Amino acid sequence: MVSRFSEQETEAYYDSQDDTYQLVWDEDGSVHWGLFDEDRDEDFLDACDRLNRTMAEKGRIDRRSTVLDLGCGNGATAIWLAGESGASVTGIDLSGVRVANAQEKRAALGPGLRDRVAFEKASATDLPFPDGLFTHVWSQAVIYHVPDKRKILSEVHRVLANGGVFVFDDLFRPKRDITPEAQTYVYDRLLFDTEFTFESYQRALKDQGFDVLEALDVSQHLKRSYLSLSERTPKDRSLDNAEHYEWLTTAYIETAASVDRDEVGWGIFICRK
Ligand SMILES: C[S@@+](CC[C@H](N)C(=O)[O-])C[C@H]1O[C@@H](n2cnc3c(N)ncnc32)[C@H](O)[C@@H]1O
Repeated sequence: MVSRFSEQETEAYYDSQDDTYQLVWDEDGSVHWGLFDEDRDEDFLDACDRLNRTMAEKGRIDRRSTVLDLGCGNGATAIWLAGESGASVTGIDLSGVRVANAQEKRAALGPGLRDRVAFEKASATDLPFPDGLFTHVWSQAVIYHVPDKRKILSEVHRVLANGGVFVFDDLFRPKRDITPEAQTYVYDRLLFDTEFTFESYQRALKDQGFDVLEALDVSQHLKRSYLSLSERTPKDRSLDNAEHYEWLTTAYIETAASVDRDEVGWGIFICRK
């Protein structure tokens, strides 16, 4: 199945929405969800940091690793990963605005770290790299946007070395029948469509030749992420974009409700080629 949204629409969306994301999500430019402490209230960005650390640990990324960050956005996580693990990290993204931001961040790094990160504008469905180049492919909150999911899985498989690890998170669709609220506030808002449930996603990965080492259904953390985000949207009615922020607050609350109704889910997958 190919989604009804095009890559051009996704590129235009992220080029135009970068300022809003930096204001509401993370001023450093990251746009992904967080893994929250089960027992206490926690800041959204601390939870996002836990997602990074969990994926780096489960992917066993270290200084010998050569990592492709698929859909790197503004490059903040790729730079964090290179600094934290000692790995070399290449980020690609469809959005020219975001790749330019990532390159600007890279230029401000000291030479040791700067030499281990690189960014370029490219589509995840047509990667400008030879077969088997990377020991790891890493991706956060990206693949749900990609219209042709099987194409992206085959590109990831192609650029990974034998024995290489694909560590990523993505949204899935637990059921076909969803409410108009989920359609509007989750699927249409995120330019998102998918045939994959949590189970069929794993089958598609296996069909592509991956061993699925671990698959975690972390949907409850998606719910907590959106409830936190609904509190982070500016509430000042005198702001220029006040109406849009109000709409976003509703959208984030509705997204959390859609998780409760099993209309959208979030998974972390660790796979080996
Ligand atoms: C929710 S953001 C996540 C960005 C980054 N991974 C992070 O955690 O901050 C989704 C990103 O995926 C990128 N993207 C969407 N479709 C893509 C594609 N086909 N190829 C490359 N990047 C894509 C968008 O431009 C956007 O930067």
